[in-house]
Amino acid sequence: MQLLHVVATPRSTVSATLRVSDAFLEQIRTACPATEVETLDLFSADMPALAGQNIDSKYDLMRGHPIEPSRAAPWRSIERLITQFQRADVCLISSPMWNFSIPYALKYYIDAIVQPGYLFAYGDDGVPAGLCGGKKLVCVTSRGGDYSAGSPMQPFDMQEPYLRTIFGFVGITDIEFVNVQPMDMDEARRAAAIETGIDRARRLADRLAPALQG
Ligand SMILES: Cc1cc2nc3c(=O)[nH]c(=O)nc-3n(C[C@H](O)[C@H](O)[C@H](O)COP(=O)(O)O)c2cc1C
Repeated sequence: MQLLHVVATPRSTVSATLRVSDAFLEQIRTACPATEVETLDLFSADMPALAGQNIDSKYDLMRGHPIEPSRAAPWRSIERLITQFQRADVCLISSPMWNFSIPYALKYYIDAIVQPGYLFAYGDDGVPAGLCGGKKLVCVTSRGGDYSAGSPMQPFDMQEPYLRTIFGFVGITDIEFVNVQPMDMDEARRAAAIETGIDRARRLADRLAPALQG
């Protein structure tokens, strides 16, 4: 089983999000020892250009045309990212909330990989359909405030709805969230939320394990 861990926080060792996703990974490795984990750290990765020839190529694809041979070489760096995503059985995204949504590095990644003909395709009627059915997505997020269901801040949460929408668009129906919150209100609540998050992440790993073992 291939697991792609997409890291969308620049805070490495002090990251609250990674404390919880590390617990998820540890439990998955215990439950499914054959799991191969590949990590993509979006804040240190050399990401392909999303301008110039690659944007022209995207418009070729959106119009249903093949990519021009003269633009094939730069496009290959986009294709490498897409292939890495496609070959994962499970994708784990570790993302803090930034300004009610996702960090720019994660948005950049999504803009790079969500391409027609790869992650989705237009039908004859022009309606797009996702091509990533069967993949599982786990999103571990952490937030400074509390956006839990029913809380006054819940309507400001553009992170979970956005991630559900874009990955649902490419055909992923099996999406799980572990939202760790509030991180930045006081130390006691932060510690309790991390503990709860770790517990939920471990239980989620145990629940997913039988399906991942095939
Ligand atoms: C640029 C930036 C924007 C942020 N925006 C929000 C926000 O809109 N809402 C919120 O609750 N917390 C916000 N935070 C706080 C982080 O979501 C919170 O500290 C999170 O736990 C950080 O996760 P990390 O330690 O894994 O990076 C922001 C932090 C940064 C650096």
